Formats: sequence, C-alpha cells, structure tokens
Amino acid sequence: MKNRVEVMHGVNLDMLERRPSEHYGHISLPELEVRINRFAHELGFEATFSQTNHEGEFCELLHRAPEMADALVLNPGAWTHYSYAIRDALEVAALPAVEVHLSDVDGREEWRQVSVIRELCVGTVSGKGVEGYRDALAMLKEKLS
Ligand code: DQA
Repeated sequence: MKNRVEVMHGVNLDMLERRPSEHYGHISLPELEVRINRFAHELGFEATFSQTNHEGEFCELLHRAPEMADALVLNPGAWTHYSYAIRDALEVAALPAVEVHLSDVDGREEWRQVSVIRELCVGTVSGKGVEGYRDALAMLKEKLS
C-alpha cells in the first residue's frame, strides 16, 4: 500500500507562534508536526516533514519528493499566492497533493485568495486550523486507495 506522505511547510511557517494568533492560534511548528504525525498514524500513513524559508530549496524538495513519498501535504505559506516556480516544481513531482492553510485564506486579503498551486492539487483545506491537516490526509487516503 502507498502510505508515505511528505508534509512540506514553506516560508515563515517556522515562526508560527510569533504570527497573529487570530489566524494561526498559539501552536509552534514542532507542536503542529506532532499533531500531524498523530493524524497520519491514525490514518495508516508514515509521515515525513520539511520546512524551509528558501524558495529554491522548496523546489528541490519537490523534485526529490517522488523518491521518498507517495503523496504530499503542502502549506507553502505566502509562496502559495505567487510562486510559479513552486507551481512548476509541483508539476514535476507529479504526486497527489493537498494544499492546506491554517487560516481562512479566502476570507482574508484579496491577494491571499489566489493560489497558483490549486489547479495541481487534489484538494484544498483552509481555515480549519490544525484539524485541516487531518482532512488533507483523509483526502489523500481516499485518493491512494
Ligand atoms: C498560510 C496562509 C498564507 O496566506 C500565509 O502567507 C502563511 C500561512 C496559512 O497556513 O494560513 O504564511 O499558508
């Protein structure tokens, strides 16, 4: 069974606990990863995690992703809204991917309502906080089964 999922966090996600709590709550990235790992195990996934603030590195992680994962959960942070480089790298990865945002990007500024990766993803979850990652994993389980 295909059960390896790579959870990729992009720019500024390592600063979660210092960002506006009305959007991101009070959780830190290490705490978030513990929660996601738990969801992953509940659903029968083996999860690996990455975070970078460097766009090229995020692209290179996507290039290598098919060697170590069957599916992707992506929260690229602000890159979501404008990085065609990441969009193209996701196309290269050619893995089932779900886009996740902790905050309700569609209810925030207009520029956050644009996602250049959405058309390549099997689903998008936003505004559900930490629980959104469980939904994303459930979508991938469905897709891989
Ligand atoms: C985010 C939403 C983005 O607009 C923002 O730039 C982030 C985090 C979220 O998880 O809600 O860095 O992806």
